[in-house]
Amino acid sequence: MGMDRTLTRKVLLGVTGGIAAYKAPLLVRALVKAGAEVQVVMTPAAHDFVTPLTLATVSKRPVLTDLIDRAGGGTWNDHVHLARWADVMLVAPASANTLAKMAHGLCDNLLLACYLSAECPVFVAPAMDLEMYRDGSTAANLATLKGRGVRTIGPETGELASGLSGEGRMTEPEAIVDALIAALMTASPLRGKRVLITAGPTQEAIDPVRYIGNRSTGKMGFALAEEAAALGARVELVAGPVALRTGRAGIRRTDVVSAAQMAEACKDLFPAVDVAILSAAVADFRPARAADRKIKKGGKVPELVLEPTEDILAWMGAHKRPGQLLVGFALETDDEQRHAEEKLVRKKLDLIVLNSLRDEGAGFGHDTNKVTLIGTDKKATAFPLKSKTDTARSILARIEALLSHA
Ligand code: CTP
Repeated sequence: MGMDRTLTRKVLLGVTGGIAAYKAPLLVRALVKAGAEVQVVMTPAAHDFVTPLTLATVSKRPVLTDLIDRAGGGTWNDHVHLARWADVMLVAPASANTLAKMAHGLCDNLLLACYLSAECPVFVAPAMDLEMYRDGSTAANLATLKGRGVRTIGPETGELASGLSGEGRMTEPEAIVDALIAALMTASPLRGKRVLITAGPTQEAIDPVRYIGNRSTGKMGFALAEEAAALGARVELVAGPVALRTGRAGIRRTDVVSAAQMAEACKDLFPAVDVAILSAAVADFRPARAADRKIKKGGKVPELVLEPTEDILAWMGAHKRPGQLLVGFALETDDEQRHAEEKLVRKKLDLIVLNSLRDEGAGFGHDTNKVTLIGTDKKATAFPLKSKTDTARSILARIEALLSHA
């Protein structure tokens, strides 16, 4: 198919009781291979057709069935958090019984509770015998679900478990994954867009061996690059000195060391991009002159004379053409929101990502971050502490919205 076959999404996979459940492990495999994280929730009836052990092994997560985990001492399987965790819910195979319960709001197992709690897109891959599929009640239930935004994948026409041939066969696992990719990944307004992302610290030479640097690791910028590429963007990643690698196709990387080199690379790239996200921690000052030989101790203590570096973000704000989106980061310590808003206006940004240094687990070096997004309407959206990957997704979702309103 040529296209990037990735599904970098958290999939809540509901498996119901039907013969086609024997294909559920293959479906999990195909989802994982495409890059998805999969949490399987089975109905009690599904246990007759496929073992939880197999599904837990291929998904690398314990499989859940009941609202209450009796074996685990009566703990509650939290359907609200499960549903929130998911980027997408897929019920495959979806039996006539589960479709009927979904259509009517029944809630007597964990899968149904998750469905009722889900705010994410929901897909069902029906699988049943020809007559059951043709039956008026099944058709009505499917119509009800579609009316509520549930999307169907299949069923296909073919050989059925009954030995009959007709409509009702579950779509093959690989084709289900393709359908999800087509629905979730190609719809992004970022697809085909050129996105410039700066990441990491800069190093400003004092002499050949010493520099002024900062604690940035580049993780946030690299997460943005990975996730933007996963959405189909063509990413230009300009990275300061970091110990990170990029694995994904669709990311072109330019490595730089100093603020001046980062500015030069960015100015070259900026005219051709649709979106620029400046997450790098660029030095604001550099030694006015770097010594060309290592400064020796002995003699008098050297004084460092500093000069300002160029503000890349401000340069872009001054040079952006209509339609170009500019996203900056702010790291404030006091009166955070007001300072961030001022920066947004002063540098002509479309969006500013306010980083909190005060929150545990946020900022430099951590794998998690806690940000607030502020747009030109000054409305602030605060996100909870979450992985830098999830934070990147939230930032990109906002950019997607800006692109589609443009
Ligand atoms: N930035 C930049 N070039 C610089 C300095 C910063 O592109 N030379 C970008 C950063 O990548 C970030 C944003 O500017 O997106 C905010 O940087 P920050 O240091 O927080 O703010 P300043 O603009 O330096 O404002 P101030 O020091 O006044 O708070």
